[in-house]
Amino acid sequence: MDGNGRWAKARWLPRAAGHRAGVEVLTPLLETAGELGVEALTLYAFSTENWARPETEVDSLMALFLETAKDKVPELNERGARLRFVGRRERLPQGVRDAVNEAEKLTGDNDKLDVYVALNYGGRGEIVDAARRIMRDGLDPDSLDEATFARYLYAPEVPEVDLVIRTSGELRVSNFLLWQIAYAEFYVTETLWPDFSPEEFRRAIDSFAARQRRRGGV
Ligand code: FPP
Repeated sequence: MDGNGRWAKARWLPRAAGHRAGVEVLTPLLETAGELGVEALTLYAFSTENWARPETEVDSLMALFLETAKDKVPELNERGARLRFVGRRERLPQGVRDAVNEAEKLTGDNDKLDVYVALNYGGRGEIVDAARRIMRDGLDPDSLDEATFARYLYAPEVPEVDLVIRTSGELRVSNFLLWQIAYAEFYVTETLWPDFSPEEFRRAIDSFAARQRRRGGV
């Protein structure tokens, strides 16, 4: 959800206002995802690297996550979305951890759309955390294959990523779902996240649908 800061700067607003505007586009986009038959999507809300931002911005983001959970989770639940959070929860403030646990409990049985929120998430960290759990389980190194490894990721049930949408023109992966995006297609747009509309979401999906995926074959 990149470009919130630039969106705010262009309007002489504080960065927090950009993040707030970024939340506003979530409901229409999730509605569109449902209409388009998307089964699962992951929102990159806060990376392990984002702690390096000024304390005031980090604090305002944590407050925004809490507020968003309060405002949007009941509505998402009514619409049949199942919410899951991926990332290292230990470092998140207790209030955010409680909201995350409650949202997962409340929506756990829903089956219309799986919404994953990457919160204090890093792709390398996820791989390291999986390796730690594998070692703790004492797996025989020779028995380890890709399918077994994938079962130790934060959300083993998450389907392989088909499409990564990157807003605000950045041509980087930024430590996002490194394992899961091995064969993903990319859609990069100059649009800043708060301006990312359902129409453009549809265009991104159309562009994906028109591609031929070869996965290393011919
Ligand atoms: C990146 O834009 C955006 C973030 C670090 C925060 C995104 C979070 C939200 C929109 C809140 C959503 C909440 C939930 C719970 C799903 P940036 O600040 O890097 O923008 P810039 O590149 O223009 O500076």
